[in-house]
Amino acid sequence: MDNRPIGVFDSGLGGLTVVRQLLKELEKENIVYFGDTGRVPYGTRSPDTIRRYTAEDCRFLRKFDVKLIIAACGTASSVGAEVLKAQDVPAIGVVDATAKAAVAATKSGRIGVLGTAATVQTDAFGYAMRRERPDVQVFSKACPLFVSLVENGWIDRDDEVTIATAKRYLQPLIEADIDTLILGCTHFPLLAPILQDILGDGVTLIDSGRETAKAAHVLLQQADALCENGDGGCRFFVSDTPQGFSDVAQMFLGRAVSDDVSMVDTAAFQE
Ligand code: DGL
Repeated sequence: MDNRPIGVFDSGLGGLTVVRQLLKELEKENIVYFGDTGRVPYGTRSPDTIRRYTAEDCRFLRKFDVKLIIAACGTASSVGAEVLKAQDVPAIGVVDATAKAAVAATKSGRIGVLGTAATVQTDAFGYAMRRERPDVQVFSKACPLFVSLVENGWIDRDDEVTIATAKRYLQPLIEADIDTLILGCTHFPLLAPILQDILGDGVTLIDSGRETAKAAHVLLQQADALCENGDGGCRFFVSDTPQGFSDVAQMFLGRAVSDDVSMVDTAAFQE
């Protein structure tokens, strides 16, 4: 048993889709969430900057004596993988569990990956899948506009702009005849109904947040580190105004966030 909280971070709000899955999977855990809303997006930044932000986000969470750090952010998980490995508490990203699930799901071995530009550039999901099964064929597509569409709430299944954008992004993956698609970015699970409508039932969508929450459960169980007295309590920290965060958090988390959102200055956790 380990009643310390789990620390989760993301470049902004999107990581709340991962918190949502964590609370479903591990309802007794307490969570400290840091959303770097003052420096979002990460997905368009250089690898060095993303690695530095990842290190700083971990440093901030470690102030809370967390037992596990989860990089909910696809970009930080892909580009900052070495930073996560170097932590002296267990720290996982979304790549490994998601890659395993995709390899388990595919029949044809043809797998698509959607992510930010930085994520796609690393091919982190591809490497992780080929480690599991060397003959998989991976087709990746950077979808930067999806992040803005989701943050603006353009997620309705019949939203014409989002559908048109998604069709354009998915076209090469449809041509590649994928049977499995990794949603390798925090925001993309909110577009799952639209993506599924376009791709049809023959393509299995893999939600990186759900797979990572399951992996966190297994990891804590194996380490005998599950929480026994928690109640899914969450504390939220952001690096820009809490107001903006609370307004859109409901869409990502599926429930209202409490008033417990505080602003922190990222300068305080730089080296
Ligand atoms: N959280 C990022 C990710 O999952 C998306 C937003 C950003 O670019 O920072 O890759």
